[in-house]
Amino acid sequence: MAEVASVLFGREDVRRRVAELGRTITGDYVGREPVFVTVLKGGAMFLADLMRAVDLPVEPHFMAISRYGDAEESLGRVRILLDVDVDLAGRDVVLVEDIVDTGLTSRYLLSVLGSRGAASVELCALLDKTVRRIVPLRPRYVGFECPDAFVVGYGLDFQERYRNLPDILQVHDLTALRANPDLLLALALPAA
Ligand code: IMP
Ligand code: MG
Repeated sequence: MAEVASVLFGREDVRRRVAELGRTITGDYVGREPVFVTVLKGGAMFLADLMRAVDLPVEPHFMAISRYGDAEESLGRVRILLDVDVDLAGRDVVLVEDIVDTGLTSRYLLSVLGSRGAASVELCALLDKTVRRIVPLRPRYVGFECPDAFVVGYGLDFQERYRNLPDILQVHDLTALRANPDLLLALALPAA
């Protein structure tokens, strides 16, 4: 039987790359106190690790959204269920995303954040699935270029499962996973 999923970026790759991003951001924002805004729930793991890799006073803030249908149908418009509780006027905002796929969600959130008088708004994405991009959007900071595949782990879910996997897995057989969403729970994955 073909493999259902395999490790795409192991926990060590993730740790190293997040540390590098943290150093880059530290250099770029020296003397400033950036506001990191992330979107629950997928971005929570990345934010938690990234902010500890940044050697500056960083404020974490969270948003929660719900999509109207899928991103493409809704043109990226989302309903904001939880909003940041800080005045963004004059602040340097970094939108911290787990993954940018079509780009519709990030573009919408960047425009919302930008409309609040922030001094700057940048996008930091752990994974950048550029081949699926619908809107021209290039994150300032990217952890890894992501192939055109469904991925889970390190915050990313399939039907709310697998967010707690320390590695990022690429799903090869999405049909099998749809048929049994718990399939990967039973998989004995090698530690990466
Ligand atoms: P976009 O608006 O198409 O860029 O959608 C981005 C959102 O879709 C992400 O924040 C994820 O919640 C979800 N998403 C996109 N690709 C994947 C994937 O491969 N695995 C899990 N979630 C994904
Ligand atoms: Mg999801």
